[in-house]
Amino acid sequence: MMRVAVIGGGQLARMMALNGLRLGLQFSFLVEPDESTQCVDNLGEKVVWDLGELLNDGSEAAFHDLFNALGRPQVITVEKEAVPVDLLRGLAQFTAVHPNPDSVYQTQHRAREKQLLSRLSIPTASFKVASTFADVRAAYAEFGLPLFIKAVESGYDGKNQWQIHSVADLESFERESPAGPWVVEKHVRFDREASLIGARSASGETVFYPLTENLHRRGILIRSIAPAPNLGADTERNAQDYMQRLFAELNYVGVLAMECFVCGDDLLVNELAPRVHNSGHWTMDAGICSQFENHLRAIMDWPLGNTQPNGPKGMVNILGSRDLTKHQPRHPGPSWLSDAGTFHWYNKTDRPGRKLGHINIAHEDLATLQTLLAAQDEQLYGETQTK
Ligand SMILES: Nc1ncnc2c1ncn2[C@@H]1O[C@H](COP(=O)(O)OP(=O)(O)O)[C@@H](O)[C@H]1O
Ligand SMILES: [Mg+2]
Repeated sequence: MMRVAVIGGGQLARMMALNGLRLGLQFSFLVEPDESTQCVDNLGEKVVWDLGELLNDGSEAAFHDLFNALGRPQVITVEKEAVPVDLLRGLAQFTAVHPNPDSVYQTQHRAREKQLLSRLSIPTASFKVASTFADVRAAYAEFGLPLFIKAVESGYDGKNQWQIHSVADLESFERESPAGPWVVEKHVRFDREASLIGARSASGETVFYPLTENLHRRGILIRSIAPAPNLGADTERNAQDYMQRLFAELNYVGVLAMECFVCGDDLLVNELAPRVHNSGHWTMDAGICSQFENHLRAIMDWPLGNTQPNGPKGMVNILGSRDLTKHQPRHPGPSWLSDAGTFHWYNKTDRPGRKLGHINIAHEDLATLQTLLAAQDEQLYGETQTK
């Protein structure tokens, strides 16, 4: 049996395994003692390990014990960026780790990631790396307002970032005194957001899904539509060219996601994720090879699959609610099963803003699909606001 070990046990690990079991793969999931793991219930072996202790020890024998406990996998992969790189390097002594530890190192830290993009001449928002409040003030003097301040590590779903619209906001950021360093960015007046998801296999084959248009609210993805409607002719080509540069530079293997701001015909790259990505969930019900399957094919060095859907596809996220009577923690039940699309539920307990599931919707007519996605969004959140 071929075995894949995934570091992490969240919804991305879940969907990877749901796709991989169908390919005849076996799974183990490396989780920490305090990590919630209901997402991967019954999908493989959960290996609970004290990583602090392992990294303290750091010996080859200690990593070998973990490799054995994971069932001696053919390949190890990740479902999140916030993984200790020394863990990946330690395990790489015994088996293939994809994406490679250095790719995770470069992309898990916003300053390194932005510097990587700059080095490859890939356009981004204007930014400065700041270690002190004086550095932040210097960025403010140069860029003016509004600004985004983002902690270099542990940011997701808009967490650990601050939007600065006034000097008072800047002062309140300083009073809050969060841990730095930070990347300070100019606020981009984008027309919309889009993401590119691509895969590169161990032998160097690459594929790209069409650019996906994404709508975020309060820093969290709410819905996606693909192919992103009405893009300029060069936009897709530029995005693929940027990702090819990243693949080559990093010797990258697996799925890579690239979040972008679209400004007219220009693309600015916002951030990278060295993994499958929420904005690619529509690929699961699109009559093509999903991002999860292509990730597994890439890391197993199998031929990659079709990425071109035969029409417009979309997705709406189901986020945890403040109102627990509205979102039921255990299972959503029939009231959620609208006839519009296909339903995915991650088996998590409800918490405000937490990603609990999603609904994929497809329609051959773009305008109809847009109406269906907006209606689903409205039904879930009762908001028509777009940003
Ligand atoms: N410089 C910026 N200008 C305008 N909007 C931004 C900027 N940076 C982030 N945002 C908005 O905040 C969202 C979340 O920021 P992002 O950097 O992607 O962090 P996260 O890791 O939380 O996804 C983005 O998708 C975008 O909507
Ligand atoms: Mg993001």
